[in-house]
Amino acid sequence: MSVRTIRPGIDRFAVEDWDRRLFDELIPLPDGTSYNAYLVRGSQRTALIDTVDPAHADVLLSALDSVERVDDLVIQHVEQDHSGTAPAVVGRYPGVRVLASPKAKPMIIDHLGIPAERIQTVEDRETVSLGDRTLEFIHAPWVHWPETMLTYLREEKILFTCDLFGSHLATSDLYVEDRARVHEAAKRYYAEIMMPFAGLIRKHLERLAGVDVKAIAPSHGPTHEDPSFIVDAYRHWVNDPPSNLVLIPYASMHASTARMVDYLVTALGDRHVAVQPFNMTVTDIGQYALRLVDAATVVFATPTVLVGPHPSVVFAAYLTTALRPKLRYAATIGSFGWAGKAPETVRSLCSSLQVEWLDSVFARGAPTPATYQALDALADAIATRHRELS
Ligand code: FEO
Repeated sequence: MSVRTIRPGIDRFAVEDWDRRLFDELIPLPDGTSYNAYLVRGSQRTALIDTVDPAHADVLLSALDSVERVDDLVIQHVEQDHSGTAPAVVGRYPGVRVLASPKAKPMIIDHLGIPAERIQTVEDRETVSLGDRTLEFIHAPWVHWPETMLTYLREEKILFTCDLFGSHLATSDLYVEDRARVHEAAKRYYAEIMMPFAGLIRKHLERLAGVDVKAIAPSHGPTHEDPSFIVDAYRHWVNDPPSNLVLIPYASMHASTARMVDYLVTALGDRHVAVQPFNMTVTDIGQYALRLVDAATVVFATPTVLVGPHPSVVFAAYLTTALRPKLRYAATIGSFGWAGKAPETVRSLCSSLQVEWLDSVFARGAPTPATYQALDALADAIATRHRELS
């Protein structure tokens, strides 16, 4: 753990989880992650904003040995990587008052077992005085759970944002130093966690435009002393139209589908369309999610297993749909041995994607000249539509 001072009387307690490689048993963490808690000392009260993952509870508690009093524990978000050590903090400081949104209160009781009488709910834009410092709470539901709120420290104009504007990045940097690295990690984080709620995040960004913010302190990754860097990035991700980019999540068992993917990649490149294939049996799904932030088209490429798509492509279709990207077009290509319904199954898995489906291209066995001709037609259709992107 590192304890670093952001401003006099405001410390960040960060656990750098360098070796963690999976989050929620789903999300790859190539750069590890961090869990940040913030201690804000006022002239009359001391507040702790968020805690750390319960796997590292002992580390936070040891670091708090030198902190005589915590009067308020702000739980901005109940997911356990931030709230999981809250019960131990409540046990350490028997007089502590837990501050949370009304939606968070029953979740704190259910998930963390903290008694109701220890929890005081705070409304949107309600303030709590620490004496010479003031916490203002800004409800931000669905970034990415319903109970989420942000905390604005009025005097220093620091916005504590929990997951919002965060990045899964273990680093010794207190502040953003390597912008390219942080941008990629934050974009990956946005893609994996926030993109399904892009419409709501757009509204939260509009609301936050009226708040004078000098620094953003998320509960994952480094602190932003230049808030416009990450806020502008979020604005692009939620507002910009998709780019001239095709993603091809695929699996191939006996090379027929792989040959079709290779051909389509070349055909699209020849037509000045950017394209990236992802072999779903080995790919880092975080990279796939990251590219979905910008992609205009997805082409699912699959062999036929029994009568349907390869399970890795089923996963790709489900994941793509769940992340609710800005895609405009989709297609299926692949192969079959004697019969099957792979394209129909992929489309049914993606029924909530708001896309135009282009003609499928499926080969019986190995691809033939007619297959490649059909792939050229698909590449033409994609290139024509991408020229109209705006
Ligand atoms: Fe970092 Fe939604 O928890």
